[in-house]
Amino acid sequence: MKRELSTEFVRVTEAAAIACGRSVGLGDKNGADQLAVDAMRKMFDTVNISGTVVIGEGEMDEAPMLYIGEKVGAGGEEVDIAVDPVEGTNLVAKGQPGAIAVIAIAPKDCLLHAPDMYMDKIAVGPRAKGCIDIDAPVSENLKRVATALERKVEDLTVVLLDRERHYGKIEEIRRAGARIQLITDGDVNPIVNAGIEGTGVHMYIGSGGAPEGVLAAAALKCLGGDMQTRLLPEDEEQVKRCIEMGITDYNKVLTIDDMVKGDDCMFTSTAITDSNLLEGLRYFGGGVRTHTVSMRYKTGTVRFIDAVHNYDRKHFEIKL
Ligand code: FBP
Repeated sequence: MKRELSTEFVRVTEAAAIACGRSVGLGDKNGADQLAVDAMRKMFDTVNISGTVVIGEGEMDEAPMLYIGEKVGAGGEEVDIAVDPVEGTNLVAKGQPGAIAVIAIAPKDCLLHAPDMYMDKIAVGPRAKGCIDIDAPVSENLKRVATALERKVEDLTVVLLDRERHYGKIEEIRRAGARIQLITDGDVNPIVNAGIEGTGVHMYIGSGGAPEGVLAAAALKCLGGDMQTRLLPEDEEQVKRCIEMGITDYNKVLTIDDMVKGDDCMFTSTAITDSNLLEGLRYFGGGVRTHTVSMRYKTGTVRFIDAVHNYDRKHFEIKL
C-alpha cells in the first residue's frame, strides 16, 4: 500500500473521534457511535482506495453504514478495512478513559474476517515475541515473559477485562505474584500498550470481541509484538457464522499472521478520552486538539500525531 495512505487514515480516525467527542459523558453510547460512524464513512470516501469493510458495524441489515462488505473509498488500491469508529462505547457514554476511534488496513484478503463473537487472546510486546502459548497455564506464560523482559514476575503488569469469566485467570495471576490492571471496557488499547515499552503494560490476557482482536493484531504486527487467539463460538448459530465467513477450523489457535496476513498493514487510532498512550480530545475556543498513533508494518514507523483542528477554516460534522 502507498505510504501516503497512512496520513489519509489519520484523517479518518481524527474525524470519527472529533464527531463523537462532544457526546463524552452524555450517557448515549449508540448516539456517540452513530456520529463517529457517519464521520468515518464520509472521510473514507475522500481517500484513494477501493476498500471493503471486513470488520465493521455489523451486517448490512443491522448497520446502515460501515457494514461488513460495504465498499468505501474514492477508488484506488484494493484493501481490506477493519473499523471500530468508537472502541469503548460505554467509556464514551460515561466519560471514562480508554475510548478510541480505530482502523486497520491491509491489502485485499489479508485481514481475517472475524465474526462478531468472543475470542480468547494473549498478547505481549516485541521483547517477549515467541514466548507465549495460549494453551499453557497463565503462570507459565508469566514466567516466560518475565525471563524475556529480564524482570521478576512480580514486576509484570497484566491487563484483563473485569469480567466474571476472568475470575479464574485473575486468581492465577495473583497467585503467581504479577500485578493486575482490570479494565471495564476497550481491550484494543491495552494490547497496543503491551507492544510499546514504557506504557507499563507487559501482557494482555482474556476473552473479548473477535473484531477488536483483529484490530489489535494489526497494531501488534506493526510493533513487532506477539499475539495468539482462538475464536469462542458459543452456539450452533455462531459456529455457522464462522463457517460462512470461511473459518472451518474455528478451534484453531490463530497467530498474528493468521489474523493479518502478508507484509503490509497499517493501524491508526485517535484518542477520544485519555489513555496511558494518548491524550484524549482537548477543546479550546477555536477548535479541538487530537492525539493519534499511526503505524505501518513495512517500515515499522510509529508516529504520534498531535493535531490542532481549527473550527473557522475546517468544516466539522458535530451534531448533538
Ligand atoms: P463496544 O463495542 O461497546 O465499544 O465494547 C467494546 C469492548 O469493551 C471490547 O473492547 C471488548 O473486546 C468487548 O467489548 C468485551 O465484551 P464484553 O463487554 O461482552 O465482555
